[in-house]
Amino acid sequence: MTDTKLSHTPDDVAIEARNINFNVEKALATDWHGGDPFRTAFYNALSIMFPVGEQHFIDSVKHYRDKISDPVLNAHVRGFTAQESIHRREHQKYNEALCASRGYSLEKLEAPIRKRIALAQKHMPPIVHLGATVAYEHWTAILADAVLRRPETFDGAKPEMARLWRWHAIEESEHKAVAFDVYRAVGGTVGLRRRLMLIVTVQFFLDGIRHMRLMLKDYKGSKVKLWLGGLKFLRSKESPLYGLGRPWRDFFRRDFHPWDHDNRAVVATVMRSLELQSAPAE
Ligand SMILES: [Fe+2]
Ligand SMILES: [Fe+2]
Repeated sequence: MTDTKLSHTPDDVAIEARNINFNVEKALATDWHGGDPFRTAFYNALSIMFPVGEQHFIDSVKHYRDKISDPVLNAHVRGFTAQESIHRREHQKYNEALCASRGYSLEKLEAPIRKRIALAQKHMPPIVHLGATVAYEHWTAILADAVLRRPETFDGAKPEMARLWRWHAIEESEHKAVAFDVYRAVGGTVGLRRRLMLIVTVQFFLDGIRHMRLMLKDYKGSKVKLWLGGLKFLRSKESPLYGLGRPWRDFFRRDFHPWDHDNRAVVATVMRSLELQSAPAE
């Protein structure tokens, strides 16, 4: 590589892991999001994806580590890896506690994602893994921005749960361009990232729906009412999916960069309210 400035994360954004242990075991035994089984299952379904998915993101980015000449981007790759590793750890604890208390099978929930990644690792080149990571990171970035921007997304949620999700959202915002910048630096094309975004979006929704169906299968009341009420929630401002059409579509622009969505101010505000300080990982 000859270009020495490959990182396009703003200079005042630090990508450092905050090594925080969350105590969410008790909350997870309940419908922690306002006593609402659908909202609770929505976030729990997302959490199930993280330990396996984020390991795949780490591996996909680390594969290219030696090809990056820009020391800043290299440092950001280290920061990204450190942040995602702690996210994995906390969501693994989350998922184990959730499954133990609610009687879900973590193995069954994770199995299709594990299989899909193993299959892709066998048949797809590293750039496809990195491109898929870029697409997933865009999803996590726009969801993170939504929950940070609209505090009502966690109205009624148990405080420690809201804190965990906001911590994750802050760090997803900070490192949102790392996989993207690596992808560009190693020659990833616009066409491939666009195609992968379409595939990743379908996978993301199918995985989420599958997790929610498994989690809600023993719901005692009317399932029709539960899902209709859930759809109403998903279209409301209390849903992290609200208003994501435009930022999602921006990804398809040829000249798109994740920091075109500059949310430093909102991240700083939430960070202050959570009193999160950057602390080095163990
Ligand atoms: Fe993460
Ligand atoms: Fe991430």
